[in-house]
Amino acid sequence: MSYKTHTCGELRLEHAGRHVTLAGWVHRRRDHGGVIFIDLRDRFGLTQVVINPANVRSPEVFAQAEALRNEYVIQVEGVVAQRPAGMANPKLATGEIEVIAHDVTVLNPAKTPPFAIDDDGRNVDENLRLKYRYLDLRRERMARNLIIRHTFVKFIRDYLDARGFIEVETPILFKTTPEGARDYLVPSRVHPGCFYALPQSPQQLKQLLMVAGVERYFQIARCFRDEDQRADRQPEFTQLDLEMSFVDRDDVLNLIEGLFTEFTERYAHLHGKRLSFKPFPRLTYEEAMERFGSDKPDLRYGMELFDVTAETRGSEFLPFRVAHVKGICAAGCAGYTRKQADELTEFARRQGAKGLVVLWHDPDGIRNTGAGAKLSQAEKDGIVAKAGSKPGDLILLVADDDRRVVNTVLGELRHELGERLKLADDGVMAFAWIVDFPLFEWNAEENRWDPSHHMFTAPKDEHLPLLETDPGSVRSKQYDLVCNGYEVGGGSIRIHRRDVQERVMRLIGLEIEEARRKFGHLLEAFEYGAPPHGGIAPGIDRLTMLYCGEPNIREVMAFPKNQQAMDVMAGAPSPVYEQQLKELHIRLAL
Ligand code: AMO
Repeated sequence: MSYKTHTCGELRLEHAGRHVTLAGWVHRRRDHGGVIFIDLRDRFGLTQVVINPANVRSPEVFAQAEALRNEYVIQVEGVVAQRPAGMANPKLATGEIEVIAHDVTVLNPAKTPPFAIDDDGRNVDENLRLKYRYLDLRRERMARNLIIRHTFVKFIRDYLDARGFIEVETPILFKTTPEGARDYLVPSRVHPGCFYALPQSPQQLKQLLMVAGVERYFQIARCFRDEDQRADRQPEFTQLDLEMSFVDRDDVLNLIEGLFTEFTERYAHLHGKRLSFKPFPRLTYEEAMERFGSDKPDLRYGMELFDVTAETRGSEFLPFRVAHVKGICAAGCAGYTRKQADELTEFARRQGAKGLVVLWHDPDGIRNTGAGAKLSQAEKDGIVAKAGSKPGDLILLVADDDRRVVNTVLGELRHELGERLKLADDGVMAFAWIVDFPLFEWNAEENRWDPSHHMFTAPKDEHLPLLETDPGSVRSKQYDLVCNGYEVGGGSIRIHRRDVQERVMRLIGLEIEEARRKFGHLLEAFEYGAPPHGGIAPGIDRLTMLYCGEPNIREVMAFPKNQQAMDVMAGAPSPVYEQQLKELHIRLAL
């Protein structure tokens, strides 16, 4: 560090009297009647520099200091001094000292940035932030996010290395590795009309590494998926991709649970989060759907679904003459107006419900309006008992012949109300495992069974005979890691026998010929002694987002795409030269 003897986050009282050289950016500059104060910033922190005409080497130095502007890159030489009594800043690590400058050198001036850098940037238009991302990343918040991400990934590497895993890189130019999204394709110049597909995950490659005997593999892997953007999705993102041989489900779960438990606890000083559960609860898919209406429930609060099908049997109230009636209790929401209730009903309709039954729990029981006026006392008593509601609460009920509709709509309502009522503690990480997923889900549009996870996931052994007779009831060896309402990881024990793999492919309508064309290499590999194996892929971006307390994953990626999948800084995607297309044998038909 020939430009500096210390970083801007390093100096303390014990350095008082020391002659130091610092270098960094002018974060803030204040002129206090002939004395200039600079907050000098580098990635490590801020140090206050005092430029006083009485202390500088020459009048020119002071004149130059007067011309300093925000974001100038400067070098300062001076002496560390304790700040005058009452001037210490306890919020700053270097807050007890300041550097009395002897010399100031401008290493590079800077244009006025398009936005302020000395705040958290949340009020700045995101596209502007992304266009000048190199400035945006200078913010303390963004630097902290990058540091947490680095620490997280480094911890993962060390944790897995200590347990006999090796990191193996797999190709980016590959063949389709489907995870349910569209592929990004790369045209080949040397093979006209042929394309590489960017992997949606290294799934096939890690399974091939198991056939290769690697036994304990991981990779901090980039994945590419052309799908609709959301707050927790990016076209390219990073997974901790992991695969192990000779293991069963609990081996994978225990390993990963240990990883996140240790990281959360050991680095609490960095990210400030605590674990909600130790060990992580394990819910079957069915239990998660029944209790929370979601396969990625936010377990930071209760508000569980309750079932009043029995209580409303034979009801006079028409909407209840269906197969399933369930509800949730919104504590303390009896103050909701009819209009607010109508909004919730609209919300429920958008999620697929036929309607929403809203009951106000008043001090003297269920209010006699709307549905409340049409239910018998016995029904109301039954509902209140199941809901566990008290006066002042609002009860929301969904009735439908399709139980999945009832559960998912209530799950969305639970999520919506959880947000509105701020039920979740944002200081915690509520990890949980969801297990025993259905192997297939029915695709009504295409009239076929789709794999719920991916087609390499193994069915539970005892369900193998049901594959052809009752595919809908086959449960799989899939597991998801969820946290605070997000799916943060997914994995499974794999099919390692070719015959089973072919049965699954046939079931999802993948003709053996097509399967051979797409996955022939994998099917063939399974004939050369594939060990039993399984793995998982936690999403690094989503987890870092939660550890950083950020609302979307773009905040924890250095150079993310915007919500239209564009890099607005570099301007990508962009048209290319005619000559390039020609070399690729491509003609555009726009
Ligand atoms: P899956 O498709 O469930 O499984 O993905 C695993 C995890 O990756 C993260 N993730 C994403 N993060 C950001 N942007 C996206 N577009 C995105 N898509 C997924 C999520 C998710 O839980 N090969 C399997 C894993 C396995 O079976 O081992 C796979 O990719 O956190």
